[in-house]
Amino acid sequence: MPSVLPPGDPMPADGSLPEAVRADLASRTDRPFGLYVHIPFCQVRCGYCDFNTYTAEDLGPGASRQSYPDTLIRELEFAAETLQAAGAPQRQLDTVFFGGGTPTLLPAEELARILAAARELFGLTPGAEVTTEANPDTMTEASAGVLAEAGFTRVSLGMQSAVPHVLATLDRTHNPENVPAAHQTLRSAGLQTSLDLIYGTPGESLGDWEHSLRSVLQLRPDHVSAYSLIVEEGTALSAQIRRGVLEDIDADDQADKYLLADELLTAAGYAWYEVSNFSTGEETRSRHNLHYWQDTDWWGAGPGAHSHLAGMRWWNVKHPAAYAQRLHAGASPGHGREILDDDAKVLEHLMLRLRIAEGLEIAEYNALPQLGPSAAEPISDRLIAELVKEGLLEEEAAQPSAAHPAGRAVLTLQGRLLADAVTRRLLG
Ligand SMILES: C[S@@+](CC[C@H](N)C(=O)[O-])C[C@H]1O[C@@H](n2cnc3c(N)ncnc32)[C@H](O)[C@@H]1O
Ligand code: SF4
Repeated sequence: MPSVLPPGDPMPADGSLPEAVRADLASRTDRPFGLYVHIPFCQVRCGYCDFNTYTAEDLGPGASRQSYPDTLIRELEFAAETLQAAGAPQRQLDTVFFGGGTPTLLPAEELARILAAARELFGLTPGAEVTTEANPDTMTEASAGVLAEAGFTRVSLGMQSAVPHVLATLDRTHNPENVPAAHQTLRSAGLQTSLDLIYGTPGESLGDWEHSLRSVLQLRPDHVSAYSLIVEEGTALSAQIRRGVLEDIDADDQADKYLLADELLTAAGYAWYEVSNFSTGEETRSRHNLHYWQDTDWWGAGPGAHSHLAGMRWWNVKHPAAYAQRLHAGASPGHGREILDDDAKVLEHLMLRLRIAEGLEIAEYNALPQLGPSAAEPISDRLIAELVKEGLLEEEAAQPSAAHPAGRAVLTLQGRLLADAVTRRLLG
């Protein structure tokens, strides 16, 4: 979740949903519904990180580490009331994702209490996926047990690298030896595991990256996320690069590292299902993240959190104190919102779908309203053929079949390296 909020229309104080959204909600009962819960606390701010998170323990009334869970539960109640007032048919939560920040800086009992409130207010579907992010240092046997008992099903550990000098450049405070221990603790508690890695850190050699990948493979997590390091504006990392203290990111080096990740992960039985995400099978994919990429509905609770319901996006005020103050005054914590027009929907649909292994239904896309009179050529046979010829789209997937009458646009390995460029080409 980026920490800079987009422009948009102001959110009404009561957070009520516009008529168009209410009408659409009634027809979306078959769409999965997810909940994102933002925990805006970290022990240390990593130099590369732009997420909406704070190291202070107390950020104001209702926004200290102790009082924040109650504020968050207040938003969940507010969400249930808002949906009810809009006449939305009740939908149980198919996924819940606690992200941050570092959710596990709160006691596991508090995370369990927040989950229990969500369950009581919305219900969870049978087999719902419930994830929390965690730093390796914040996971103990007792806390893993509490999470599993409360209904959490997976934990995503921020490992980033197995190499001490790379971790130091990233300002990570955990000892690499804590990762196997934390991973084993999660396994013993019966939780699914995911490990986050970052590649392309200044000073990281290809050998360093290979070592990190092989360390991950020794642990055999259910899921691996491999992110290229992004230099976010305004971070300590960006200042270090600007001052010449650290080398800049090298796109070719990052491409080589993505290729190595794909090679080693694939050989070890992992398959990509989104450009940066690999899993051991369909049942170990992150269903919650797939919701984002597949344009389903989710409520994002917490400061700066983004939500999406029936073509409307909104985002909460960013600072935890302002967030708490609004909720405790009985107002919506929403800051701004926008109703996506047809052009924005097409653009978003195309960008998100192309990033996942299922790819983009060409028939479905061609049926969508196009991008305005002066804009792009729609996806045409000619353009698809060109991209296939250039090795950026899978030839077989692009063929029409009974299940996919106009074929699908699925990125090849080379295409995944150039996903943004392929998207731009498809937009004309
Ligand atoms: C918000 S963090 C939450 C997890 C936990 N706080 C941690 O860092 O271990 C989620 C993941 O985003 C990734 N991430 C954050 N900032 C990034 C950046 N600038 N470039 C690439 N990946 C980033 C990291 O891999 C991190 O594990
Ligand atoms: S621990 Fe995670 S959320 Fe916190 S600053 Fe580091 S990367 Fe960002």
